[in-house]
Amino acid sequence: MTEKNKYYQMSLPERWHNLRGNVGLQDEDIAALSGEGGLTLETANQMIENVSGLYSLPLGVAQHFVINGVERLVPMVIEEPSVVAAASYMAKLVKLGGGFTAETTPPEMIGQIQLLDVPDIRVAKRAIAAHKDTLLAEAAEIDPILTKLGGGPRDLIVRELYSDTLGDFLVVHLIYDVRDAMGANAVNTALETLSPRIEAITGGRAHLRILSNLADRRLAKATCCIPLAALSFRDFTAQEVRDGIIAAWAFAEADPYRAATHNKGIMNGIDAVVLATGNDWRAVEAGAHAYAARSGRYTSLSRWWQAENGDLCGELALPMAVGTVGGATRVHPTARTSLRIMQVESAQELAQIVVSVGLAQNLAALRALATEGIQRGHMALHARQVAISAGAAGAQIERLAAQLVQERAVRIDRAREILSQWQAQA
Ligand code: MEV
Repeated sequence: MTEKNKYYQMSLPERWHNLRGNVGLQDEDIAALSGEGGLTLETANQMIENVSGLYSLPLGVAQHFVINGVERLVPMVIEEPSVVAAASYMAKLVKLGGGFTAETTPPEMIGQIQLLDVPDIRVAKRAIAAHKDTLLAEAAEIDPILTKLGGGPRDLIVRELYSDTLGDFLVVHLIYDVRDAMGANAVNTALETLSPRIEAITGGRAHLRILSNLADRRLAKATCCIPLAALSFRDFTAQEVRDGIIAAWAFAEADPYRAATHNKGIMNGIDAVVLATGNDWRAVEAGAHAYAARSGRYTSLSRWWQAENGDLCGELALPMAVGTVGGATRVHPTARTSLRIMQVESAQELAQIVVSVGLAQNLAALRALATEGIQRGHMALHARQVAISAGAAGAQIERLAAQLVQERAVRIDRAREILSQWQAQA
């Protein structure tokens, strides 16, 4: 892009035009983005209960992402200023190092059956092992379409747990490849169908039958390296920036108080893409934080280090239960448009984009925190929201925001004061 046609400098109609040309968006997509189309009350009324309205959030499109050699535009739904700009800028730096490399494990979800009142735990374990193949074959018949698409049950694993309340009890894990679905419905249906057979085999009682959000067999991983020279900015040398980012990461690695905030920054990017595609961001959040505590101590989801040639490299891996079929991804028109913007073919491709955005977001936060602090960039954007809250409209918004930043007084009371001065002058 030349200086003149940078995406962030375009008007909204220019951006829509750009998206038509770049990723082939159609009239219905532009209608979804412009607010003329999108989710209707009628559809919303079918989605949840007691529908009484619609709720909108901004959708930004992050630029400069190159993932596994493919350029991607990335829709992000988020109310927080700076996030989309930060992701785009970091993606631009990463592009200088060849872009993100991302991979996923097979889309295997875990479903759990809690078995209570088992007469003999050891006999029950042996019985499940003996019937494993038939149970898996029966599970494969539950969703013939999924099986035809190459998904379906992969394994049955029996775990023995202890609780002070229950004593010893059994949990059966059904490992289920859900292909391009998020998978909750497929897994829960399979669990409920299999449970009576497992009860009969073990003599126990299937209590809970529900998928686990700690989807640690369905991982997405992204790595990137930024050439050292690309890291310097303002008065900061490249070495200072690199070492500062690594020291910031080491803090999160060592301390759960910092790790929670560090990971929150990662989730700023992840949730925004997950939400844009109509996926269940609470499931992704739950999986991410449980995974961050898998060693028994909550820690950073990412890792940053210095490569042998001096470049800065980073890596992020976490469970990524996202789908491109089923649920709101297909029902919500703007979610469909989001998938078209990214031009993804599968849930695994989507997961690779999501995890790359998470890594970019983490880099942006650490780079800012390790150098000038986040308030400088944040305040400029926050000032716009303060200006709007104070009642500014149209061209007043930018003007008022600029004045608030210049005065270093990004506060609603000052914004109102300036607005009333302008009104008095007019
Ligand atoms: C703010 O939304 C996110 C950060 O706090 C993340 C971080 O501290 O790494 C800036």
